[in-house]
Amino acid sequence: MSNTTVLLLDKDYVIGQVGKRLYSTFVEHLGRCVYEGIYEPGHPTADKEGFRGDVRELVRELNFGALRYPGGNFVSGYNWLDGIGPRDKRPVRLDYAWTSIESNQVGIDEFCDYAASVGSEVMYAVNMGTGTPQDAGYIVEYANFPGGTYYSDLRIKNGHREPHNIKLWCVGNEMDGPWQTCQLEASDYGKKALEAAKIMKWVDPSIELCVCGSATSRQPSYPEWDRIVLEYTYDKVDYLSLHRYYENLGDETDFLASYHEMDGFIKAVAATADYVKALKRSKRTMMLSFDEWNIWYQAKTQLKSWETAPHILEDRYTLLDAIAFGGLLCTLINNADRVRIACLAQMVNVIAPIFTEKGGAAIRQTIFYPFAMAAQNCTGTVLRSIGKTPLIESAAYGSVSAIPHTATWNEEKKELCFMCANISGEEQHVTLDTRSMGKVILARHEALSGNLSAANTLENPDKVTPRRRACPSEAVEKPCFTLEPKSFHLFRYAITK
Ligand code: AHR
Repeated sequence: MSNTTVLLLDKDYVIGQVGKRLYSTFVEHLGRCVYEGIYEPGHPTADKEGFRGDVRELVRELNFGALRYPGGNFVSGYNWLDGIGPRDKRPVRLDYAWTSIESNQVGIDEFCDYAASVGSEVMYAVNMGTGTPQDAGYIVEYANFPGGTYYSDLRIKNGHREPHNIKLWCVGNEMDGPWQTCQLEASDYGKKALEAAKIMKWVDPSIELCVCGSATSRQPSYPEWDRIVLEYTYDKVDYLSLHRYYENLGDETDFLASYHEMDGFIKAVAATADYVKALKRSKRTMMLSFDEWNIWYQAKTQLKSWETAPHILEDRYTLLDAIAFGGLLCTLINNADRVRIACLAQMVNVIAPIFTEKGGAAIRQTIFYPFAMAAQNCTGTVLRSIGKTPLIESAAYGSVSAIPHTATWNEEKKELCFMCANISGEEQHVTLDTRSMGKVILARHEALSGNLSAANTLENPDKVTPRRRACPSEAVEKPCFTLEPKSFHLFRYAITK
């Protein structure tokens, strides 16, 4: 394998724009994501509503676009009315999805206030399992209708005179999954989602709707499910959802090459949507919402029976996980022309970048860092890089690039960002040909490398952190650098002219 790469980054070779929604996340009533995660009355940093200030600070660092809420599998058996009004009157319920006890101490009103406090919008999922299309209309009325009707006045009575104005709505969650409360066949879901979408948009025509695509690319009904659902709903919805989780099943190269599967999945779903576009003679292209993605050790997941805020799905991430995660993030950004929303699942404790101790500290997991690098730096226009990178052989995917990468150009800030992983076991020497931008100066270089099995713990929260590298002061036309084996990097360049 040659270890040298030259990539031409020309500001006229454009893929699309990276909006803030590409850096979204997911908060489900699951395990300790809400309770003991964002919400813990009595915690030394809790505000008067019971939300943890230390967690809020970390959430702000990640600069999330949207917070998807309240599920997930949870939502398919959830009655949103249980989560409104005086807290001491809210019912305690069984949550079938995660065999847990739900106290309902956090509901739509508290969550919308929380999202606003961290500078994010809410992406609200309605119940298409036990819920009806009419329930979906009622919750849009509660959240967005100004007043003078039963549900909008109920919101006002509950202390929110101004509407929440939620723009993004998911019409259910993973309705093809047998694990879902009230799973549906594709045509049954398609019909139900269409009726729900009609009512929801009648109540508020300004909202954007996301319909459920296949729960994963491994579902037997994929991609037929997606085609059938879109044939029913194409004209009434704005996004089709994709979900996918990856894990290290023993072959490190296959795991690091997971980004390749994600890219193929996105392309296949886009092609399926485009088939329906042609069938419908539609002029509108369906955008995609990758509203659940992450590393998740599903094979090791064990549920508990009927506990409140159980310690479940609390994966602890290593440096290796962070590098594989970084490759997935580059892939999402490189598909920004179709993927307009992407939610890192989830936000706190449950397969998450932030981990908390009850009554104690909140720490950053390894995957926190690639996400922060991207959300804080990679904005503006995504560039299509031209050039060949070395290939490595993966048993699962064949030959894949050893350097998954993405490049963004921010015209306003006059900045170029290059984010990449080296997933090979060798050093890689990379040159960027930035001639269309003139000379550039390296303003920031952050790198994650070292012991691949290292992870951050409550005892040692900074075991894995990005290292800031020295930046030479001279401007160059072809910046070059060396990537150590199995590492992840962000380079930010200032344009000199
Ligand atoms: O994020 C965990 C679960 O994964 C979600 O509840 C569900 O939508 C998916 O299967």
